[in-house]
Amino acid sequence: MNNVFDFAEACLHRADIEEKLQLTAKAWQLYQQGELKFDSLSAVQEIEQVCFPDKPELLAPRYMARRKLGTPEGVQAFYHALAHIEFIAIYLAWDILYRFRGLPEKFYQDWLRVAYEEALHFELIRSHLRKLGIDYGDLPAHQGLWEHAQDTAHDLLARLTIIPRCMEARGLDVTPGMIDKIRTLKDEAGVKILQRILQDEQQHVLFGSEWFNQQCREQQLEPEATFKAMLLKYFNNNKPKGPFNNEMRLNAGFTANELAWLNEQ
Ligand SMILES: [Fe+2]
Ligand SMILES: [Fe+2]
Repeated sequence: MNNVFDFAEACLHRADIEEKLQLTAKAWQLYQQGELKFDSLSAVQEIEQVCFPDKPELLAPRYMARRKLGTPEGVQAFYHALAHIEFIAIYLAWDILYRFRGLPEKFYQDWLRVAYEEALHFELIRSHLRKLGIDYGDLPAHQGLWEHAQDTAHDLLARLTIIPRCMEARGLDVTPGMIDKIRTLKDEAGVKILQRILQDEQQHVLFGSEWFNQQCREQQLEPEATFKAMLLKYFNNNKPKGPFNNEMRLNAGFTANELAWLNEQ
């Protein structure tokens, strides 16, 4: 295999976790060696064909047990939830690359980098989880994340708004607080993993902002107005809630006007 879309196809349609991690690392390695092809000749399957592992069991948020970080079970549940977010993030990166064709080669290189980094994040969290005595899949996980991909499967501007510029940007807002909390648990290894993830995520959001602006130029749309309209459309007129990490969001390509709008109540 040496075409990026064949790797994407395999990563989205085969459920095996180890195979997905190996394929993602292999695609990245071939790209680094200049041996990965980006010509998009293969057909695109519908998003309903994407396959997930049998475990973890996926539950609606209201059925998930709420546990505090103060207990060992709470710490396990916290890292398990993070592992799941990173696992779905691998799918989200492969899916934007796979589903939206005919873009500049840089688009595919950027999202390949994201897929590779999400796989690293997942592996870092999973090995931390194993040290805490459980594995990914041992607890149920949040069902909601993938729905945003399904909702935006036919609209690249919507996908860029909702995934990198909303869900991943939310990570920039909440991760510094999580780092503070786990620092109080004297979990230095966990602190290091989360700091690494936070730095990488700023770049993922920046890719989202850059491609969002590029698409607006292509479609002759005003970017700030389009961003607001898309967010309101996909969240039933509810604006995302703050507080926002304004500094990291500025570094990740949000404009002062977008942030002013997000911050106003
Ligand atoms: Fe990540
Ligand atoms: Fe990310």
